[in-house]
Amino acid sequence: MKRKQHQALPRSGGERETLRTKGQFWTPDWVAEFMVAYVLRDQPKQLLDPALGKGVFFRAAKRYARSHRFNLALFGRDVDPQIVAQARQSELDEADLRHVEIRDFVLDPPSGKFPAIVANPPYIRHHRLPRIQKDALRDFSRAAIGRHIDGRAGLHVYFLIRALQTLSPGGRLSYIVSADICEGVFAETLWQWIAARFRLDTVIAFAADATPFPDVDTNALVFCIQNEQPGKHFDWVTCRQQNSEELVSLLSGNRRKQNKTIEIHQRSIAEALSTGLSRPPSQAVTEHHTLGDFASVMRGIVTGDNDFFFMTLTRAREIGIPESLLVKAVGRMRDIEGEQFTPQDVDRLEFRGRPTRLLHVNGLSFDQLPAAVQAYLKEGEKSGLDKKTLIQTRKPWYRMETRKSPPIMFAYLGRRNARFIRNHAGVVPLTCLLCVYPKREDADFVEHLWKVLSNPQTINNLRKVGKTYGGNAIKVEPRALERLPLPDALVHSEKLDKYLGPRQGSLNFGEK
Ligand SMILES: C[S@@+](CC[C@H](N)C(=O)[O-])C[C@H]1O[C@@H](n2cnc3c(N)ncnc32)[C@H](O)[C@@H]1O
Repeated sequence: MKRKQHQALPRSGGERETLRTKGQFWTPDWVAEFMVAYVLRDQPKQLLDPALGKGVFFRAAKRYARSHRFNLALFGRDVDPQIVAQARQSELDEADLRHVEIRDFVLDPPSGKFPAIVANPPYIRHHRLPRIQKDALRDFSRAAIGRHIDGRAGLHVYFLIRALQTLSPGGRLSYIVSADICEGVFAETLWQWIAARFRLDTVIAFAADATPFPDVDTNALVFCIQNEQPGKHFDWVTCRQQNSEELVSLLSGNRRKQNKTIEIHQRSIAEALSTGLSRPPSQAVTEHHTLGDFASVMRGIVTGDNDFFFMTLTRAREIGIPESLLVKAVGRMRDIEGEQFTPQDVDRLEFRGRPTRLLHVNGLSFDQLPAAVQAYLKEGEKSGLDKKTLIQTRKPWYRMETRKSPPIMFAYLGRRNARFIRNHAGVVPLTCLLCVYPKREDADFVEHLWKVLSNPQTINNLRKVGKTYGGNAIKVEPRALERLPLPDALVHSEKLDKYLGPRQGSLNFGEK
């Protein structure tokens, strides 16, 4: 029988919202197959799925136990009785579901421990958790790991801690989760705790063609962890194809010499924790310089309301806003083609009716503004703009953030490759781009730095500092971009190192 490969997700509206608040993303059968193979390798007597949903892991576990001829009791939890009712309709009968409880797994955990736990936890981000639940989770994690977990951790992070606590000695856990579990601000604390107490056996990442959740913008990883003495090495596996039998075989303990659908890297735990578990192994070479040695990075301007503050030159003229009260700006990544942005590109955007001018009246009192601009601002007030969350913190409310035009911009998020853009147009970017300010302003220095930044080897290093999303998208925050390693050979060939003072990392502003 050909099984359905993935859940069709509602793209918007109430149903999608329910998914977000309940975290109900279903694991495809082919993924459940290899996750279950790992936890059932030693033929345990019991298996726990602490976030049962429609029961995909129960079904896979039943098949496994049947084909390997051993008895397995299934234990489950969920907070949503309606979903569990659906599990009843899918190859699972009353006997399979008799140990299922409708209870919160993290805050009201089972009293016993389990030799096999398999989970796809609810993916609920921290800002969707009710305050009272968040406080209880914080207290739980502090008691469990003895350290504070940053409040930006989602429910899936606490679920992992609880799942590990619920493993019996020697027991196995297989956990599928978004890569942010090893990229968020809380990640270091979490993984140091795990690596010191448990044995990380395998981490599975997925190539774009084999992503388990094709409709969700997330980069999924599977962690296989045993409640055993921690080891020094583990397998970091990339799954290149769905339904990989080689993966089932590897996780069942049968390592093949050659594989076509998976790629296995043996990595040291120490290296992987410092590189990030979601990232491929960093090459042996460690670069000596980072972008932060040569430039500083800031996010682009947040206007608070692009429709009001950001407009075409034609519209500004219609309103009667003089050019002296406008700055040239670029508002979205799609408005930039390629790696160079020129004055002709600004004209091209204007011609296409794309906004290119930002209202900027800072430094002038209301009375000093032309009557047409005063009228425009009053119109904004009338429509309640001055009460909008971000805008109301500004004084006066129409005051704009300021940025010098950056010689280099960085497109930090997107399905297409993240890239550096040389800004010849004198624009300031809105928040869709980052501003890169070289520490020296001379054209020669900026050009050499640009050459290093636009080189594919440098772009490749973005994986080392960025957060990964589905479809190979990457997001890099300003501080993380400053940590971007610049390949030594390029820094040298572009003679950037001659600008550095004797102390590595401090730029010499004196003689070139
Ligand atoms: C991502 S779904 C996974 C379901 C299923 N195991 C699968 O892989 O397809 C997570 C499930 O956890 C349930 N859930 C949410 N909060 C929970 C909690 N605190 N304790 C136990 N289950 C919870 C949700 O209702 C949902 O059915």
